[in-house]
Amino acid sequence: MGVAGLGAMGAGIAQLALEAGFDVVGREVTSELGEAARGRIGHFLGRKVEKGQLSAEDRDAALGRLELTTDLAHLARSDVVIEAIVEELDAKLECFAELERIVRPDAVLATNTSALSVTEIAAATSTPERVVGMHFFNPAPLMPLVEIVRAELSSEEAVETAYRLGERMGKTPVRCHDTPGFVVNRILIPLLNDCVRALDEARVTPEEMDTALRHGAGWPMGPCTLVDLVGIDVHVHASEALYEKLREPRMAPPPRLVAMRNAGLLGRKSGRGFYSYD
Ligand SMILES: NC(=O)c1ccc[n+]([C@@H]2O[C@H](COP(=O)([O-])OP(=O)(O)OC[C@H]3O[C@@H](n4cnc5c(N)ncnc54)[C@H](O)[C@@H]3O)[C@@H](O)[C@H]2O)c1
Repeated sequence: MGVAGLGAMGAGIAQLALEAGFDVVGREVTSELGEAARGRIGHFLGRKVEKGQLSAEDRDAALGRLELTTDLAHLARSDVVIEAIVEELDAKLECFAELERIVRPDAVLATNTSALSVTEIAAATSTPERVVGMHFFNPAPLMPLVEIVRAELSSEEAVETAYRLGERMGKTPVRCHDTPGFVVNRILIPLLNDCVRALDEARVTPEEMDTALRHGAGWPMGPCTLVDLVGIDVHVHASEALYEKLREPRMAPPPRLVAMRNAGLLGRKSGRGFYSYD
């Protein structure tokens, strides 16, 4: 398997593939970024060993199946490539056009995009039938769902290959069509935006909002905690992308979140969002 981009998502996806027994070639833009991803994967597998969920031999074998490269051409032997590079259409179009030239004609090409059109990405290739979406959730090793996205011209075979691959990677796959936000984000993003707007309308604190949704709606985690975890910048970016496509006011990021993003209050990763983190 090839994985293009070993950031937050790509490293998690590579980890799942290694644990499932695949040989993985991961491509990053610099060898330092690749090594950093290897370090994170090693760290998470090490934690599983400490918890008794994985043997030290299996961890070592999994890490031994990971090959790093900065050259996309080294993904040539892949049966499937999962792309998890930056969420920018031009970068993804370039990546898919290059992948098409490199891999075998029947290899499946999957994108982990959250908010771009899989159909548009597939159009960068002359074989759009083998392009699908495999939308993992963050953190990929822990979140059980993967949305298997059928683009306009995806073949049945490519969709089924991705579905079975999702299962082999230990996930619960759900097939869906290529619509903005697919299934989960189409629902969750406007819902979280509503929660943020209701903070001001109902004049409640983030703590009170989280308590209300946890105890009144059975959410495992309150919406303010969740947006902090996702990253305010990531959430605002996804909201803007959905709003651009659907033009529904609820999809647009609330001004309060845009102001937080602009001020660098990005949630857990920056140390401060709705809450402060040490
Ligand atoms: N973060 C999330 O919550 C989340 C959830 C689901 C899906 N996604 C999607 O996953 C993708 C990656 O997101 P992320 O959060 O991991 O981003 P990230 O910024 O953590 O990682 C992106 C990585 O791609 C690398 N990269 C950039 N251009 C590249 C190229 N041409 N080839 C190889 N590597 C390249 C960057 O160096 C970086 O390490 C995006 O499409 C995003 O929408 C993100």
